[in-house]
Amino acid sequence: MYSTKSDSQGPRRGRSFDSMNTVYEENHLNKEMCKLSFSKMGDSNKDNKKNGKGQAAIVFSLKNEVGGLVKALRCFQEKHVNLVHIESRKSKRRNSDFEIFVDCDSDHEQLRELTQLLRTHANVVEELEPLGNSKEDDMTAPWFPKKISDLDMCANRVLMYGDELDADHPGFKDNVYRKRRKYFADMAMSYKHGEPICHVDFTEEEVRTWGVVFRELNKLYPTHACREYLKNLPLLSKHCNYREDNIPQLEDVSRFLKEHSGFIIRPVAGYLSPRDFLAGLAFRVFNCTQYVRHSSDPLYTPEPDTCHELLGHVPLLAEPSFAQFSQEIGLASLGADDDSVQKLATCYFFTVEFGLCKQEGRLRAYGAGLLSSISELKHALSGNAHIRAFDPVVTCNQECIITTFQDVYFVSDSFEDAKAKMREFAKTIRRPFTVRYNPYTQSVDILKDTSSITNMVEDLRHELDIVGDALNRLNKHMGV
Ligand SMILES: [Fe+2]
Repeated sequence: MYSTKSDSQGPRRGRSFDSMNTVYEENHLNKEMCKLSFSKMGDSNKDNKKNGKGQAAIVFSLKNEVGGLVKALRCFQEKHVNLVHIESRKSKRRNSDFEIFVDCDSDHEQLRELTQLLRTHANVVEELEPLGNSKEDDMTAPWFPKKISDLDMCANRVLMYGDELDADHPGFKDNVYRKRRKYFADMAMSYKHGEPICHVDFTEEEVRTWGVVFRELNKLYPTHACREYLKNLPLLSKHCNYREDNIPQLEDVSRFLKEHSGFIIRPVAGYLSPRDFLAGLAFRVFNCTQYVRHSSDPLYTPEPDTCHELLGHVPLLAEPSFAQFSQEIGLASLGADDDSVQKLATCYFFTVEFGLCKQEGRLRAYGAGLLSSISELKHALSGNAHIRAFDPVVTCNQECIITTFQDVYFVSDSFEDAKAKMREFAKTIRRPFTVRYNPYTQSVDILKDTSSITNMVEDLRHELDIVGDALNRLNKHMGV
């Protein structure tokens, strides 16, 4: 989409954001189809609610083998999953392919097993989890992960997989590069929460590419990056081997983040929908690519790569106030309707990816899309860019430009300021409950009845007791 430019445009913009929207629209479409089928099911729907089942959907394409469709459908039979609706359609992703869309009755476990089996005969493009399949779900709210391990069910729903590159991708004609991309994608797709992230032996070519990006960006950081970034980058050099001649390992980075802000890294194979990506943030999980951009042009990438993640995102994710800000956007998205998720994703785009802040009377960048893009970083702080104050009510309607620099950048006084505004905005999100993250169980508590709220008040009383005790001790120590 913007391959005519010579510099990196930053990630999750351009085709990436467009791709996220594509998934979003298709999810929405599928859900509409599910709702239609749901209403026709009458009593069987009630039975399903009792036994924990709901309406799920799977989209897959067939591998080039004789009897492929029969073999694929046999997987449903083998897993005792009832088909409600099936249709084929021309793929929007690959013009030459057809995709099969199937509505079925299934619970999460069945769907997971079915998808695994189906992969032996088909390419699973997308799966939509069953709606309303647990007692705490409200039927008007889309399914969302309740505990951190639930991310295993939604963090692999990527749009493109492995060596599937667009024709205008710099690595499209490079079979060695495509094979390498598949290696990274396979690793990410097989990842499960709690496992260590695989160590990667990066090639000399990959390290050289990273080195160019690292060197050029480091020339700009002292005058362009915010103070929190400049504070954390040397720590990453010391503890995670951030060097021009070394690509840091995600496992080391994840451990570092866990100690500093509670965030952890999860390897991801490609683009996620806004809903799935934001859901990760709610649990302080950052979905992170591990492959390196193509070596033919180190300063350009049409998609997020490990240079973007490690140099753009990680130094800020280590900052507790920024980590909290990121998590709150994620929490606001859980169970929200599609329109609200899209607004939150736009706020994320103009803050976490392209945000600016004011420090000592000067503009500084904190957005990862800027901090990993030499030309746009220079442009955003050149004095020629259009800058407005960050206000989620306004920002959420701003168009995310995908072919060139942003029309406008949004500036916040601080992360605390941005967080306060996002908190107010989150209160306007349409959903029948509110959620609170429980760090002890790494799960979300759903607050929608008196007992759940009472439990939270008890916890808060205990926290206030600790504050009161600390103040008393401080007063005694100071002789007040
Ligand atoms: Fe990003």
